[in-house]
Amino acid sequence: MALTNTVDMFKKAYEGGYAIGAFNVNNMEIVQGITEAAAELNSPVILQVSTGARKYANRTFLKKLVEAAIIEHPAIPIALHLDHGPSFEMCRDCIDDGFTSVMYDGSSLPYEQNVEIAARVVEYAHKYNVTVEAELGTLSGVEDDVAVEDDKAQFTDPSQVQDFVTRTGVDSLAIAIGTSHGAYKFKPGQDPKIRIDILNEIAERLPGFPIVLHGASSVPQSFVKEINEYGGSMPNAIGIPESELRKAAAGAVCKINVDSDIRLALTATIRKYFHDHPDHFDPRQYLAPARQAVKDMVAHKIREVMASVDKA
Ligand code: G3H
Ligand code: 13P
Ligand code: ZN
Repeated sequence: MALTNTVDMFKKAYEGGYAIGAFNVNNMEIVQGITEAAAELNSPVILQVSTGARKYANRTFLKKLVEAAIIEHPAIPIALHLDHGPSFEMCRDCIDDGFTSVMYDGSSLPYEQNVEIAARVVEYAHKYNVTVEAELGTLSGVEDDVAVEDDKAQFTDPSQVQDFVTRTGVDSLAIAIGTSHGAYKFKPGQDPKIRIDILNEIAERLPGFPIVLHGASSVPQSFVKEINEYGGSMPNAIGIPESELRKAAAGAVCKINVDSDIRLALTATIRKYFHDHPDHFDPRQYLAPARQAVKDMVAHKIREVMASVDKA
């Protein structure tokens, strides 16, 4: 199967009450871990590349790694997606490079400017059968020191979504309902809930339209514990409970973004490995279990959070 865009994936996910996992890729082990898990579970998957990833690996390597994954796993649909494209030009470059889906992230811009640039991206992307995600509302982290009262101002305003989707023609919409990027999503003692009520209000205004959840890592405490036990320091790292994500995936959320959990899986495994094998220095020795940890974590998510097993 060649790379696909997200049209079919999201249509089926919406109707089936499940979500497609969108996992950030930065190197070969991550691409392998994710796609091996998806292939074994017969699940569609989105591999996404951030601007930072593109800078780290350069524009060719990640694309070629994803092409290799398609050769290795021909039975499952895989989309190659630009994560948080900061400009029309970056989206255009990725489309020209063969990405099948792009996100234009104008969420920090004034509304009209976000609309205008997202619409330009859509006009270009659709000529090449590439799907477009845009964002309304701003994700925040507790690290941003946002006061609880002010949190409301960050959430997506449901009264804007119809206008935005109609005027831009985007294929999916990322919304802010209390998730945030990184490993510190809630303060200790805070109720780790997301605003399913806002999601439902948005879904009512956009029937059948695919919604995207960023900042959706669960920050598994087993990884945090291992990191802290073997020389790391990540006190109070807290993620989104899987039960909250399940509610979202059962509703209008068709794409759930995960990056931090991949970083945690790799870091925890490598930290422990170095502790247990201080004399080892062949990268394959520690990258193999790290890749396996990514695979196991992704498989768990495909089963328990996305519920996308056998949806390929
Ligand atoms: O949304 C952010 C993703 O986790 C990508 O992070 O820009 O450090 O690659 P990055
Ligand atoms: P996490 O930091 O929660 O993994 O979110 C990743 C993300 O939203 C990528 O766009
Ligand atoms: Zn994101």
